Amino acid sequence: MTDKITGVRTAFEADLARASSESDLEGVRVKYLSRGGVIAQLFEEMKSVPPAEKPVMGKLLNALKTESQKAFDGKKAGASHGPAQGERSIDLTLPGRPRPLGRKHPLTQTIDEIKGIFTSMGFSVATGPEIETDYYNFGALNFPADHPARDMQDTFFISKNVLLRTHTSPVQIRTMQNQKPPVREIMPGRVYRNEAVSARSLVTFHQIEGLYVDQGVTFSDLKGTLVAFARQFYGNDVKFKFRPTFFPFTEPSADMYISCFLCKGQGCRMCKQAGWLEILGSGMVHPHVLQNVGYDPERYTGFAFGMGIERIASLRYGVDDLRLFYENDVRFLQQF
Ligand code: DAH
Repeated sequence: MTDKITGVRTAFEADLARASSESDLEGVRVKYLSRGGVIAQLFEEMKSVPPAEKPVMGKLLNALKTESQKAFDGKKAGASHGPAQGERSIDLTLPGRPRPLGRKHPLTQTIDEIKGIFTSMGFSVATGPEIETDYYNFGALNFPADHPARDMQDTFFISKNVLLRTHTSPVQIRTMQNQKPPVREIMPGRVYRNEAVSARSLVTFHQIEGLYVDQGVTFSDLKGTLVAFARQFYGNDVKFKFRPTFFPFTEPSADMYISCFLCKGQGCRMCKQAGWLEILGSGMVHPHVLQNVGYDPERYTGFAFGMGIERIASLRYGVDDLRLFYENDVRFLQQF
């Protein structure tokens, strides 16, 4: 009985599809849907189906009846109002189907924008490995062996000499080893630190490193470049200041601050009432670092800087929990 029902359904669908005129349709109606039609006959045959099977068969048969009638009615309505017979009916008044658009992750958007600003100032983009040796991550950057400066960063060591890079600064070394000055590069990438995860710190995050080495590069080039960047990224009216600090690989070194763009320097939750936000570390490349890559520090000078992308993005978008950038909750991501 099941086979029969299926057979009738297939035959009906084929006949209905083939029907291309009013009289064809009438033929289909008489053959399947009329009182003496094939479907009515099936109902007749139900009488001899064993009682145990009746509920299931009845259901199948009823479905066949209503669906066939519906398909028939639909085709008939289309045939009488729609386009000429044989043409597909297209309703041009239906609204279009929306296509959901993907978008870039807010961290990628931030990196792309920063890259765009620096490439427009003549910088190119370089990358380096995330698994580094102690030499590239520390030694070549003038962190002396066993010097407490190495404790500034909590490192994931893979073995005694191999580690997950704690910053993008080792890419400076690789870049300078591979080319002669002038060097003008920015180096975005992922870094790792062995820290407890919280709203304010993550075990992995991103940095963008910058490096400019040539003859006659001075601290005023550093300031000019970084101020031009900050104006483009944060807006023309942003105020800035540089404060002396220490990094083993630069001398002198300076942290750059901008006036808080939320409170315009008045003091708020974002800047923790300071009115200023630290956005990057920078400095003049230490002569030892130049020597380590075979550059003559008497002839060449340069500046370098490094900034944390999650920090910059969180300040810019007012995100107060860095973990949100890694949870990939679409309700969060859709806001960018
Ligand atoms: N590597 C530093 C860090 O991870 C950031 C940094 C500071 C990079 C000063 C630089 C620089 O190139 O000149 O904290």
